[in-house]
Amino acid sequence: MRLWLMVLALVCGIQASAVELSLEADYQAKEAFLDLNFFSEGRGMIMSPGLIDMYEFFVPGLGVVNRELMQSSWGLVFDDSSQVAGLFNEPYKGMNVGTVGCVVCHSSRAAGQFVVGLGNKNVDVLRMAKDLHRIETWWDGFRPDGFRNASYLAVEDNAMNFAKYLSDDRLGNMTQGLVPIAFIRGWFYRVQNLEVPETSRGQVKIPHLWGYGEKRKVGQFCDGFGDGEEVGWAVAVELAAGQTPEAVRAYYDDVKEAELAMEYFLPPSYPFEHDVELAAQGRKLFEGTCAKCHGTYQRDKKGFPVYKSPKWIPWQVVKTDYERLRTNRDEFTKLVETSPLSDIIRIKKNEDGFFAPRLEGVWSRFPYLHNGSVPTIWDLLQPAKKRPKYFALRDAGELERFDTERLGLKVKRSPASQSRLRRRAIR
Ligand code: HEC
Ligand code: HEC
Repeated sequence: MRLWLMVLALVCGIQASAVELSLEADYQAKEAFLDLNFFSEGRGMIMSPGLIDMYEFFVPGLGVVNRELMQSSWGLVFDDSSQVAGLFNEPYKGMNVGTVGCVVCHSSRAAGQFVVGLGNKNVDVLRMAKDLHRIETWWDGFRPDGFRNASYLAVEDNAMNFAKYLSDDRLGNMTQGLVPIAFIRGWFYRVQNLEVPETSRGQVKIPHLWGYGEKRKVGQFCDGFGDGEEVGWAVAVELAAGQTPEAVRAYYDDVKEAELAMEYFLPPSYPFEHDVELAAQGRKLFEGTCAKCHGTYQRDKKGFPVYKSPKWIPWQVVKTDYERLRTNRDEFTKLVETSPLSDIIRIKKNEDGFFAPRLEGVWSRFPYLHNGSVPTIWDLLQPAKKRPKYFALRDAGELERFDTERLGLKVKRSPASQSRLRRRAIR
């Protein structure tokens, strides 16, 4: 059907209309995404073999790694049935290998709702990697030699190298909820046997994925660096986890299918009441002030959003935090262009700027901006100096932390709370 439409569009010279959205298609696409991981030939975002089995067998009694640690320190998301989203135990050559999937980062909670396709507000990759590496080292010493064969040792090696690679204080995230793209950049250096330079970390919040079908046409990531038409960058995290270019080619079709399915994601609808009259006034203000960058909004016959591509704004105009843009230097661009995957992982744009994101489902996407520095929309509309500088992310997705007045994360604002949070932040 899709192919037929595209052919017709080519022949007639018109644009193919956007996909038809529905609750059913949204459900199907999200179910498939929940199951997505690219474990392959003992490689990927993995943990030492047997670790999860050991955990399930012993730990409820020992209580070393409990829900509190996984949720509050590592920032893992528990779905509606109290399972960790995106954690798998894959059978492989007689072992079970703990594997992490896309939704570990690409799902979250907002006002107490589990939302697939929302960026995880709490994930702490550095902390998790360090703890895992410690646990894996212990587990390595604990296992009797009889349990190890060549395949076991190879997988364990991959797992421990992955945790070690992510444990680097120079490149790791400095707070929860931000992911340093330095680790992904690192792959392009490693694959050409070059030292990963100690430049910027490039910390970003994890973006929402609804509307991505239209977004990828104009560029991938917050700055438009990746070419989303070529569909391929989505596996970049797997490359950072030690996948080989050959493995990526082998499952490229699955990656493509997964990225295309994101076109069907719907945003979470606002779960609280809103004042219709105020909203009408707001719409006018928005159209006069914000729409020139953030675009206009319509719904289709069924009431679903009509997705459009976001507009890209030069950094000189928006002038938000520059740190993330420092990662796109010429040296790196060259490495992307000469990498063994340069035919599928390509650059769209290498200029300084950010997309003005489309705002569907924006109520759930706090804290705001690409660096997650602003807790509510109310604060975003204040001068930067007036915004709270410090806020805690603990339980950020739970109902009690949703601020319906200011729209976003409820934070402590008094000078006393601010200085208490500051002391904790710089410890
Ligand atoms: C460690 C956390 C993490 C994992 C795991 C992860 N991602 Fe991402 N993803 C990110 C971050 C962070 C960004 C934004 C990077 C930026 O804007 O610079 C991103 C961006 C994306 C984008 C581009 C979105 C846009 O608006 O341009 C897509 C598509 C995507 N990821 C798909 C995937 C898929 C598919 C997987 C599983 C193979 C995956 N991601 C696994 C953190 C993650
Ligand atoms: C000159 C263009 C421009 C105008 C005008 C503008 N914005 Fe933005 N807006 C941006 C850009 C670019 C970003 C992304 C900046 C970043 O992440 O560093 C952004 C980010 C945002 C975000 C954060 C989205 C998220 O997911 O984190 C919100 C919310 C927002 N703008 C609302 C508004 C509102 C409301 C108005 C009108 C009062 C407005 N903007 C006017 C360019 C603009």
